[in-house]
Amino acid sequence: MNPTDTAVLPGDPVTDVPGSAMTTDDRELVISDLHVVPIGQPDREILAGIDLVVRKGEVHAIMGRNGSGKTTLAYALMGHPAYQVTHGQAMWKGLDVLKLSPDKRARLGLFLAFQYPTAIPGLSVASFLRTALNARRRGLTGGDSDFDPSDPTRGGISMGDFRRLIREKMALLRLDDAFAARYVNEGFSGGEKKRLEMLQMAILQPEFAVLDETDSGLDIDALRIVAEGVNAQLSPDLGILLITHYQRLLNYITPDFVHVLAAGRIVASGGRDLALRLEQEGYGPILREAGLPASASDEAEPAEPAEESEVHA
Ligand SMILES: Nc1ncnc2c1ncn2[C@@H]1O[C@H](COP(=O)(O)OP(=O)(O)O)[C@@H](O)[C@H]1O
Ligand SMILES: [Mg+2]
Repeated sequence: MNPTDTAVLPGDPVTDVPGSAMTTDDRELVISDLHVVPIGQPDREILAGIDLVVRKGEVHAIMGRNGSGKTTLAYALMGHPAYQVTHGQAMWKGLDVLKLSPDKRARLGLFLAFQYPTAIPGLSVASFLRTALNARRRGLTGGDSDFDPSDPTRGGISMGDFRRLIREKMALLRLDDAFAARYVNEGFSGGEKKRLEMLQMAILQPEFAVLDETDSGLDIDALRIVAEGVNAQLSPDLGILLITHYQRLLNYITPDFVHVLAAGRIVASGGRDLALRLEQEGYGPILREAGLPASASDEAEPAEPAEESEVHA
């Protein structure tokens, strides 16, 4: 990218000055040579060298067949305890986030949506979000010692400000007020879980979000909710890694870059046209081009024959 593309705004920390300690600027997540194994099976490498750079303001889609390692990538970035990073790094703001605890990652502005969110009976959506927001703000004030979540002069958010914030964000996502009083994920439909995920993202205002789409049972409504939520939050200060099994999600969210994951690596990268090609041709040709085996299920479905009634109409 041409360095002149990136305007330096007043007040922005200048990090790409020659000779400064940090050579990457803090507007990008740089994943290099990431290798990941499941804790229980250390000889089974799921990710075998992922290289990826996502800058703020960009939407990158990761696509791949079932079992290609998409969720493992999200989990590794999140710090899921069931996965071990055996090699590589993910640099963000001068730090390798893979070495940090999940809560520190969140405080640094990373947001990792869960593919299978858990219910927390007894905890309301509003309390949950306020606690999460305070945890995030604690990170921003630099240390734990002086922080007081109930005291706005010590980094916390006042009840009044929080109410205004949650109202504003719920309106943005077209959620009705009753949603905030419900218990986290308890009895939520798939679509409501997705709405909470989007609301959480809107409240926390991350600088980098990893969104993992569930591979099955995601109905068109849930897909639209995610797409509307993401589109409402697009900003030059937010980078998005959108993990999806379905090209159709990309009918609602336009990615700047599309990457295909197979055999633990990114085997093809391109623009939106790559997703369209996948829709038309299936994974087969791209896998073969990468020297990987492809099965019949990787080929595109043949076009539906025209209905009898249409033919004779
Ligand atoms: N905790 C685990 N232990 C053993 N194997 C796992 C574990 N997690 C994922 N795998 C295997 O790694 C592969 C990639 O899984 P996953 O990342 O969930 O793929 P995707 O999200 O692309 O469908 C699959 O073959 C899966 O069975
Ligand atoms: Mg998955």
